[in-house]
Amino acid sequence: MRLIIEKDYKNISKWSANYIAHAILKAAPTSAKPFVLGLPTGSTPIGTYKELIRHYKHGVISFEHVITFNMDEYIGLPQDHPQSYSTFMWENFFSFVDIKKENVNIPNGNAADLEKECLEYEGKITAAGGIDLFLGGIGSDGHIAFNEPGSSLASHTRMKTLTYDTIVANSRNFNNDLSKVPKTALTVGIQTIMDAGEVVILVNGYKKAMALQKTVEGNVNHMWTCSILQMHPHAIIVCDEDAIVEMKVGTVKYFKEIESANINPATQLYN
Ligand code: PGA
Repeated sequence: MRLIIEKDYKNISKWSANYIAHAILKAAPTSAKPFVLGLPTGSTPIGTYKELIRHYKHGVISFEHVITFNMDEYIGLPQDHPQSYSTFMWENFFSFVDIKKENVNIPNGNAADLEKECLEYEGKITAAGGIDLFLGGIGSDGHIAFNEPGSSLASHTRMKTLTYDTIVANSRNFNNDLSKVPKTALTVGIQTIMDAGEVVILVNGYKKAMALQKTVEGNVNHMWTCSILQMHPHAIIVCDEDAIVEMKVGTVKYFKEIESANINPATQLYN
């Protein structure tokens, strides 16, 4: 695992967007061999999306040969609802870059047969050649995608019930009315994320500090699903100074030392 500790949210966003841009450029995708990117919603990735849009506008990268798979979607919310994850993705990212509509994949939380939808979603990921890079956030209860505490660490795309914590956190987008937040969602599984070539997880703010501590210093445990990242061969966590406050001083020092010796082209190319 790499732990990148940046000063603040702005720098996390720059670092992760640079890293993603670099990964796409390195892959030099074509229509025959597209780059497959897993994507999250939430407040955390917004800065990264803004930076990626900036790179696109400056001609640094193109999304013409990029296929995306979103992590999750609420069940039962109309696709064009202001709070659907589909709306979020088009309003915060897709509408501003040259991605092809047919290359965008988001689970359909209104499918007549949700189990079939989940199976087909996994099938589409496989047919695309697997996910090259999965970008994600983390919940304060340690969830990645909607894999809440107690989720199977071997899970694939399926329906999940959201925890009370998550419903409260997400109610900020529903006028703080808990009753308006959908209680269930379709989500990629832990194994779906683990199957990606690399995983980049963004963590910022004090409220994520405990989840980050469990991710980096805790044991692998289904009650903190984020801890599974310890088992991924290419996991990168990009966090800010506020998020590290629950970790040991020695742990922080260790990762800072390693990274200071690392020459990372992603952070040098597009500042
Ligand atoms: P947030 O959500 O980015 O809005 O904090 C992250 C998550 O729940 O995974």
